[in-house]
Amino acid sequence: MKVIKVKNYEELSAVGAEIVIGEIKKNAKAVLGLATGSTPVGMYDLLIKACREGVSFKNVSTLNLDEYVSLGADSPDSYVSFMRDKLFDHIDIDIKNTHLPDGNADDLDKECARYSALIAAMPRAVQVLGLGRNGHIGFNEPNTPFDSATHVVELTADTVEANARLFERKEDVPRFAITMGIAEIMQAKKIVLLASGANKAQAVYAAVKGEVSELCPASVLQRHGDAVIVADEDAYALL
Ligand code: F6R
Repeated sequence: MKVIKVKNYEELSAVGAEIVIGEIKKNAKAVLGLATGSTPVGMYDLLIKACREGVSFKNVSTLNLDEYVSLGADSPDSYVSFMRDKLFDHIDIDIKNTHLPDGNADDLDKECARYSALIAAMPRAVQVLGLGRNGHIGFNEPNTPFDSATHVVELTADTVEANARLFERKEDVPRFAITMGIAEIMQAKKIVLLASGANKAQAVYAAVKGEVSELCPASVLQRHGDAVIVADEDAYALL
């Protein structure tokens, strides 16, 4: 596992964007694994800028990590709406090539199996990750088995609280989500985890220096052959 220390959020976003753009330049049909949350938004802004300057996403496909159960494209709080708003609607990607789990599916087990099959059929050149304060990746909370595939999770109180800032009312934050599993995250050829801010410092430390343990899902990245953690000064502080 490689750790890149950067000064601030701007530099973190630039390093993330450079890695993603590098993959598209290598292969115009690259499959990108993407994340939601606040952290990758600066990187997405730079991808939009790159597209305006000639980097084409026309043949690129994407697979997102997760979606809230019961929220879909008609909800502004869903991750599918987030991705359209922050990235997809501003680049030349074919929206048919963008994939997220369907949080509105009637049969969630079937939906998990469908998404797992899609992940298996679409090898990712790179998977972008954010990091939960408790070390989660995707919505794989502490104690999720490392061999997990796409599944439904009950979010921890800490994650619900962290996500509440994006909702008007705390009661509206969904308690369940569908997430790509840890084994599937690990199948990406390259993994880039972005961590910004002092509230991530403990999780960054546990992921990089702690023992590889299901108590800290991100520590599994120590076992990946090409994983990079990009951390700004505040997130890096305990290393
Ligand atoms: C989002 C996701 C989560 C976030 C994490 C950090 O798709 O899978 O693991 O990456 O909760 O969120 P932010 O970036 O908002 O601090």
